[in-house]
Formats: sequence, C-alpha cells, structure tokens
Amino acid sequence: MPKYIINGGKKLIGEIQIQGAKNAVLPLLAAALLTDEAVTIRNCPNLVDVNNMIRIISALGARVVRTGDIIQITSDGLFAHEIPKHQAKELRSSVFLLGSVLGRMKKAKVAYPGGCDIGLRPIDLHLKALLELNVRIVEKYGYINCDASNMIPTALTLDYPSVGATENVMLLAAISNGVTALANAAREPEIVDLQNFLNSMGAKISGAGTSYIRIEGVKHLKGADYTAMPDRIVAGTYLIATAICGGCVDLVNVEPGHLQSLLSKLMKSGCDIDIKANKISITSNGNIQAFGIVETQPYPGYPTDLQAQLTALATVANGTTIISENIFENRYKFVPELNKMGAQVMVKGKFAFVTGVSKLTGAETYAMDLRGGAALVLAGLNAEQTTVVHDIHHIERGYEELDVVLKKLGCDIIRL
Ligand code: UD1
Repeated sequence: MPKYIINGGKKLIGEIQIQGAKNAVLPLLAAALLTDEAVTIRNCPNLVDVNNMIRIISALGARVVRTGDIIQITSDGLFAHEIPKHQAKELRSSVFLLGSVLGRMKKAKVAYPGGCDIGLRPIDLHLKALLELNVRIVEKYGYINCDASNMIPTALTLDYPSVGATENVMLLAAISNGVTALANAAREPEIVDLQNFLNSMGAKISGAGTSYIRIEGVKHLKGADYTAMPDRIVAGTYLIATAICGGCVDLVNVEPGHLQSLLSKLMKSGCDIDIKANKISITSNGNIQAFGIVETQPYPGYPTDLQAQLTALATVANGTTIISENIFENRYKFVPELNKMGAQVMVKGKFAFVTGVSKLTGAETYAMDLRGGAALVLAGLNAEQTTVVHDIHHIERGYEELDVVLKKLGCDIIRL
C-alpha cells in the first residue's frame, strides 16, 4: 500500500496550476450520455473516481477515449440501462447516472449506493424529486428500478439543497416535454458548470447558481466541446498548505469567486492574499490567528470538503477555533490521527473544539477518507520530525500528484 513520508518545516514557494474539478467532471461525464453525438470534455483530472466513471459509462455502451486531460465520449451505440452493484459501490457519484440514463433510455436500474466513509449519504431526496416528475420507481433486492416514459415536467422543491439531487433533476429534465422549475436547488459552482455544459449541448437551462433553476426541456441534445471548471477544493487545500507552512505561492487556473468563504478566513487569520482574474497569490509567515467559529454550509457558505484541512490549520493557530460540521455526520475520523501528532482537538457531536499548539510532532497516521487524509498531509508539512501517512489511496481519489506538486514547492515529501 503506498504511503507518504513527510519531513515538515519547509516553506512553500512557487506556482501551482490547479487541476480541473473532479466534482464537476463526474456529472459532465454522466451528461455526455444524453446525446448520440461526440462530446469533448477538457481539463479532466486523472483520478481514480474519474476513471471509474469512465469505466461505468463504457459498460453502458459509450465509447470513451482519453488523451491527457481531454476525454471524448460518443454514445451513439445501443445502451445498457443497468449499473451493477460492484460499480455503484466503487463510485458513489454513479448516482448521477440515474438522471442521465433515465433521460436517454427512459429507464434505469441502479444499485443502491449505500453508506460511505463520511456518513450515510442517503438518496431519498433524489428519489423524491424523480417521483414528483412522475418517474415510476420500484426498489427491489438493493436495486432501484426507474421508468421515466411517462415523466411530467413540473414545479418542485427540494427539502434540502442537495448537490447530487439538483444535478439529477437537471440531467433528467434537460430532454423533456415541458418546463421543470426546481426550487431550493443547490447553488454550488459545479451546478453552474453542468448548466453551461448542457446549454452548450443545446439545453435550455437558466438560474444555476441561484436557488431556483428553470429547465425548459428540448427534444434533442447535440455534441459539444467544453472545458471543465477548476477544482476549488484542491485550490483551497493548497492555500491552506501555504498558510500552515508559511511561504509564498501563486495558484493559477483558479476561480477566486468560488473560494470567497475560505479567502476571507485566511485574510483575517493573518495571510496576505492578492486576487487577479484567474490567479490567487498567498503569502503567509506561518503565524496564524484562530478562526473563532467555523460552520460548514451549502455554497456559498464554508464548504464541508475544506473542513478537515481548516481544522488541521487551526491546530497550530494562536487561540481556539470551534468547528461545526453541519453537512456530513462522520467527518471527524481524522481527528484522533491529528491528536497523535500533538494537536489538541476534542470532538463532541457535530462540533470540534480546537486549541492551537505551537508545533505538531510527526507520527504514523492513517488516512480514513479523502479530505481527512489531505488534512493529515497538511499537518505533516508543519510538524517537526517525520510523519507517515498510510492509506493514501483515499487522498489520491481527489488530488492529482499531490506529492509531486508539494515537492516542486519545496516540501520534503516522498511517495513510497
Ligand atoms: C457533493 C460532493 C461532495 C460534497 C457534497 C456537499 C460530488 C461528487 N460530491 O456530494 O464532495 O461534500 O456535495 O457539498 O459532487 N442527503 C440526504 N438525502 C439525499 C441526498 C443528500 O439526506 O438524497 C444529505 C447528505 O447525506 C448530506 C447532505 O444531504 O448530509 C448534502 O449532500 P449532497 O449535497 O447531496 O452531497 P453529494 O451530492 O452527495
């Protein structure tokens, strides 16, 4: 099993090109199934999750060619409509295929995705939305069988602004006979990216980025050539890495507007931030003030996917930070690993109480999930002596060549 070995205490200096967003590319790959014409998606990161999605859509009948960060999909052949259990388990995001396979084939059979490493992650909101659109759903033997041949576009409201449920409604309603008006939609930038991509294929969708999305169904979608948005969570992780180590880093190919909630916190904590159109420059002397109370919220609030990384930074800040994790119920698994390094974090329910210490000390640690694993790497970059992070396959689900990027910036990190 690969691991990272980190000797902390180095400053970060240099420039990073931010990879394309995994959480945008996954629904875009699902959306590509909605047309029989060729689709090109650029800026796709080379990650296990993306490659799993490619494997699933290929098994459904799509022809997929990957050249570097460009993925070309042609789904003109006959389609299967079933996503088997082992594939659904490998990739929770296969749930997006419910909307796109239903949109294309009018029927879909998807294995129940079940729980995952950060919490239960039910799909009741997805199914409720489909039912409101008059999709017939039969759940049997761990599979969800859906029939959209009598789908009726209508106005519906999500009980909670779920990212995945919003994307599934957009995917299903894009090709339909009427207008679907979705209220309390999620407002994440990845949803705007999906709208822009679908519109480049000829869809008529407006309102993404607000709580109200209007989808005017069209008869047919065509091919497209589209560049996916940059990964705001990866960018945020490198910003926090610079804050925790000290140094001076330029992030290029970023969308600063997507990172407002993090940038304002880093500025208040003593980092110098300079923002240009597609570039963020950060300078930190490593002397960080605590963050007070940080609550994770749906966008534009502070993202749950950057909670663990900010908790790692708070462990070496001056003062106390209280984190409130409001999105997922099981996102503190990394905390005992951080505490092994001398951090002082106490978890009580959805709260983590973090008392800053002057220095962390290296330890043997284990990544339990993607973002929690990234937090351990950040802590290791700060710590005195050597930190080992095991089980880094979790981390590599979301970060392209994390060790290579950090090494270029001056870190002492080896992947073994
Ligand atoms: C997406 C992101 C994930 C991010 C999350 C929240 C992708 C591939 N993943 O996940 O990285 O952490 O948004 O920003 O884009 N919920 C229900 N029932 C449902 C659906 C969701 O109760 O049917 C709950 C979830 O358990 C969770 C909350 O709603 O507590 C948010 O989930 P959701 O917004 O759907 O996240 P995902 O789309 O799964």
